[in-house]
Amino acid sequence: FQVHWEAEQAEKAGYDHFMLKEIHEQPRALRDTLRGRIDDDCRRAVLDELNLEPGFVKNLNKIFVTACGTAFHAGVVGKYIIEKLVRLPVEVDIASEFRYRDPLIGPGDLVVVVSQSGETADTRAALREAKSRGARVVAITNVVGSSIAREADSVLYTWAGPEIAVASTKAYVTQLAAFYLLAVWLAGERGALPGEEREDLLRALRELHHGVGQILAGAGEIAALARRYHQRHCLFFIGRGLDYAVAMEGSLKLKEISYIHAEAYAAGELKHGTLALITEGVPVIALATQPELFEKTLSNIKEVKARGAEVVTLTFQGDHDSEELGDFRVYLPPTHPFLAPILTVVPLQLFAYYAAVYRGCSVDKPRNLAKSVTVE
Ligand code: G6P
Repeated sequence: FQVHWEAEQAEKAGYDHFMLKEIHEQPRALRDTLRGRIDDDCRRAVLDELNLEPGFVKNLNKIFVTACGTAFHAGVVGKYIIEKLVRLPVEVDIASEFRYRDPLIGPGDLVVVVSQSGETADTRAALREAKSRGARVVAITNVVGSSIAREADSVLYTWAGPEIAVASTKAYVTQLAAFYLLAVWLAGERGALPGEEREDLLRALRELHHGVGQILAGAGEIAALARRYHQRHCLFFIGRGLDYAVAMEGSLKLKEISYIHAEAYAAGELKHGTLALITEGVPVIALATQPELFEKTLSNIKEVKARGAEVVTLTFQGDHDSEELGDFRVYLPPTHPFLAPILTVVPLQLFAYYAAVYRGCSVDKPRNLAKSVTVE
């Protein structure tokens, strides 16, 4: 037992938990995943491993994304990214739904399956379902030679390195990077995005690990917020567009490891139900990074404040009146706003982590959950 304990401490490299270590590995994981996949002058995403012939890509009908858990949440971001950059319709499904819903897919479609482990039973079954209907399957996975990697038509590996904590962090961030690369690549092949816009995005993506590092350097600020709220029973995450997609992941992280009940809500949907649950002192974490949606989200922040919520807002530094942005602000380092998800998720991971630590939870091995679910 003694030997095992020491070995585990060594593997954690001085961090209290694998989850914290993996959160801090994200700048490196991001760099590794992008390495060699952006050409020198940032004009092209280089994804030769996709092996998709130009004719297929030009005539693509529709894209489907399917996955479970955190990988599914990466897929929700992926849908926004691909639709915006490639202008093709994307459907995103939980794998256990996709496999049984008799999806309308065929030979002109591309199915992207996302799985950190490459072994999740439902995701694997969804992959087979897609293949049996003649669709092409690209896997985004972190494990070389995994079942999903072997069964897919092509593989886009994430290079996050081994992820030990049950709650996924660095895998998610690298899955997002893979979606940005895939979308820019598809847009390039289909002539869907002007060269300068591709260049702006790829240049910002290449530098983004610095921003992630800056957020990590400010982890103390997030820990203080987690200390303030860790005894609450319920918490809400709100956002629009890409921010809503990241809110879903922030909420899952908190539930998984701290057991605080959390809900992610599309900010504009609050008034259709959940606003009834916003009462005096309820914490609301608002994500407001998207310029074209900013004013809309701001009005939702006012809506919940008027009902007594305590609001923490994640946003880029801007010229708005900071009072309007709620009780606490977390400012993200500047980048292309379209890449915000890779930054925004980091404070949410840290928040969940510290909340779980302050509550005395088993951070790396939350109750009832497994790292890889290979049975249905
Ligand atoms: C389990 C894990 C989650 C993970 C999900 C999908 O439920 O606890 O953290 O997101 O499986 O795993 P995969 O390996 O397919 O990404």
